Amino acid sequence: MNEFVLSIDQGTTSTRAVVFDHDGVLVASSQKEHTQYFPRAGWVEHDPLEIWRNTREVIGRALAAADISRNQLAAVGLTNQRETTVVWDRATGEPIHRAIVWQDTRTQEICDRLAAEAPDSEADGIDRFKDRTGLPLATYFAGPKIRWILENVEGARQRAEAGGLAFGTMDTWLLWNLTGGPRGGVHVTDVTNASRTLLMNIDSLDWNEEICEAIGVPSAMLPQIRTSSEVYAEAHERSLLTGVPIAGILGDQHAATVGQACFEPGQGKNTYGTGNFMLMNTGEELVRNDEGLLTTVAYQLDGQPPVYALEGSIAVTGSLIQWLRDNLGIISSAAESETRARRVEDNGGCYVVPAFSGLFAPYWRPEARGVIVGLTRYVNADHICRAALESVAFQSAEVVEAMNASSETDLKELKVDGGMVVNDTLMQFQADLLGVDVVAPEVIETTALGAAYAAGLAVGFWESTQELASNWSEGRRWSPRTEVGQRQQQLRQWKKAVTRSFDWVG
Ligand code: G3P
Repeated sequence: MNEFVLSIDQGTTSTRAVVFDHDGVLVASSQKEHTQYFPRAGWVEHDPLEIWRNTREVIGRALAAADISRNQLAAVGLTNQRETTVVWDRATGEPIHRAIVWQDTRTQEICDRLAAEAPDSEADGIDRFKDRTGLPLATYFAGPKIRWILENVEGARQRAEAGGLAFGTMDTWLLWNLTGGPRGGVHVTDVTNASRTLLMNIDSLDWNEEICEAIGVPSAMLPQIRTSSEVYAEAHERSLLTGVPIAGILGDQHAATVGQACFEPGQGKNTYGTGNFMLMNTGEELVRNDEGLLTTVAYQLDGQPPVYALEGSIAVTGSLIQWLRDNLGIISSAAESETRARRVEDNGGCYVVPAFSGLFAPYWRPEARGVIVGLTRYVNADHICRAALESVAFQSAEVVEAMNASSETDLKELKVDGGMVVNDTLMQFQADLLGVDVVAPEVIETTALGAAYAAGLAVGFWESTQELASNWSEGRRWSPRTEVGQRQQQLRQWKKAVTRSFDWVG
């Protein structure tokens, strides 16, 4: 009997395989980190073949830990770090370059050129493609990364135009490999991942030929765009999942939105991962935004219209804590950031603005770089740890401000998930700063769960989104403990610190 769904969550730092049962309960999981390559300042790369090897390894280990065989799986769902770009040879399966990760800023010059070249018929500068894609021109998205690879790998453009190369985000790369690779792998992505390329029409949900041409991406290398919940193909024998239908694909933030059961307009979630990403469901209505938020596809179920979302993307949150550990060496584990932050009453006047990849929402300032301000002889490493944690909450508070300014009603409470939710000090500070409750679900593996839901819905393992919503239950809640005046003063100070990070490059 098919009693389980397997979810593969290919994230920025690791790949996980998670087995869920029909109640949405996590039965077993396995996780493996992959190498982060930083060849130059601002460059971040992953090895797609290492990620594919890790994927197979965690699949095997998760099935073993759950003590089940592939025959007990109803379906497999995929979810992934978005925007990270792979280009590979269709005949050999070899990537022609390491994957360029979403945080990588090497394409700034390409983006500047594209912004400067806008014809009279289009909006100026970074908003050139916004009316059609919902996105500003930024190094974050996949389109300019593809162009960089085609410009910098010898002969790549000709091979791409002749149909010999394939582009994919991590969902597409893994699906192609899971379904046979060079031996018949399917070349498909879903609407949520496609909505992060800068190449897809956000309303018609197909590739925009004009923009592909302007950015310089041959259509022959693009995957087919499909819904987030349908059977794409059965897994090939090289995947350890022979014959199991692969039936769900969602970018990780979209998956968390589904895993948090945000199926109604106005419902949203904030995920605390490598970066922070807040998505608010806007229903079937495509809401354009001038407050620094992105318009994106939340999800699309088979045979149904797409559901849209507004998104506030923050590039650096959890990765700032990793930086304290790996680059500064002032903590030895993420948990220690909280221990240190608790040793002091406040940030001692110190603010950390982690603009490592420029600033994303709501500023979109590519030339910004990280700063630590307010230093005095009094400030110590504990204050810096506290300021680093606070920067996570401050950045999210600014995204909430943008969300409130963009909708008729203010946020009533914030649903949260992701690794940093275990940090009680951070969550309490977040509630204090927002002045609303912060709520985590019982199952905090919402990303993996969302992809499992998409796959399970496609094969009838689950019947409806209502059924999924009834699986959601509250785990923890943090209520605000501070006064309005205090939080306003803190935010003012933070915003002043942010301005100190501007105009650094160039
Ligand atoms: O847009 C980037 C995002 O999808 C990365 O998510 O969880 O790997 O930090 P995460």
